[in-house]
Amino acid sequence: INITVVDEDGESREVEWRDNQTLLECLHKNQYPVLATCGGNASCATCHAFLDPEHFPASGERTEEEEDLLEMIDDVATETSRLSCQTEYHDELDGATVTLKPGM
Ligand code: FES
Repeated sequence: INITVVDEDGESREVEWRDNQTLLECLHKNQYPVLATCGGNASCATCHAFLDPEHFPASGERTEEEEDLLEMIDDVATETSRLSCQTEYHDELDGATVTLKPGM
């Protein structure tokens, strides 16, 4: 599928997301320097990204760890926040927009 990524500078680019990748892996594959300090283990929140509201439901349920972490960054997190390391590929996410946050 193809998604549009809006980076920290507000630049948007269309990238391919393959079905064997998490969103974090897709972002890394496309040279986005997402920190991911904990290595994709749902314990740091530095891989935080925003989905567009229309596609957010297609990204699946947040895990409990993810909910807890997003609560800890509730000054920046929104209703459509996801930890990209916990966001699996779904066909219905084709055309989604993923926004990265400055300072993440
Ligand atoms: Fe640490 Fe996703 S990489 S929570």
